[in-house]
Amino acid sequence: MNAWARRRILVTGCAGFLGSHLCEQLLPFGHEVLCIDNFFTGSRHNVLPLLGNPRFEVIRHDVTFPLYIEIDEIYNLACPASPIHHPFDPVQTSKTSVHDAINMLGLAKRTKARILQASTSEVYGDPDVHPQTEEY
Ligand SMILES: NC(=O)c1ccc[n+]([C@@H]2O[C@H](COP(=O)([O-])OP(=O)(O)OC[C@H]3O[C@@H](n4cnc5c(N)ncnc54)[C@H](O)[C@@H]3O)[C@@H](O)[C@H]2O)c1
Repeated sequence: MNAWARRRILVTGCAGFLGSHLCEQLLPFGHEVLCIDNFFTGSRHNVLPLLGNPRFEVIRHDVTFPLYIEIDEIYNLACPASPIHHPFDPVQTSKTSVHDAINMLGLAKRTKARILQASTSEVYGDPDVHPQTEEY
């Protein structure tokens, strides 16, 4: 597929900081953007300006449960990202990380969609500083 062709794009965690800005950037290219969030830390206000766009759709959904849709591309950003939020319910945070990755990889495999998986800098190893500052 031509890199600039219009695509059906799924953004999980779309009501959060990165997701809402990503949706805003994708729509002007003519893509159809499907936005998934359970609004645990994200807010509807972040996507409010996009709701009038007929190519934008929001679904309240918890990504720990499978999703059966047809899609060309996935940006998987859903997770309680901030150190303030993830200790609130560590089990749900772990489920979100693990089950979400399994569900989205399964969806990508079935639909042959390209997928971007967001992660944390913690993957580079145990940090000396926690929570990490931007400088670190
Ligand atoms: N912001 C950064 O600087 C940064 C840096 C590195 C990595 N990341 C990673 O990028 C991703 C997004 O970061 P962010 O800053 O936009 O976070 P954010 O907290 O602003 O957004 C995360 C979104 O995920 C949603 N969410 C949480 N659990 C969910 C679930 N079970 N089902 C559906 N939606 C759920 C929240 O409601 C929220 O809208 C995270 O995985 C984060 O670790 C962010």
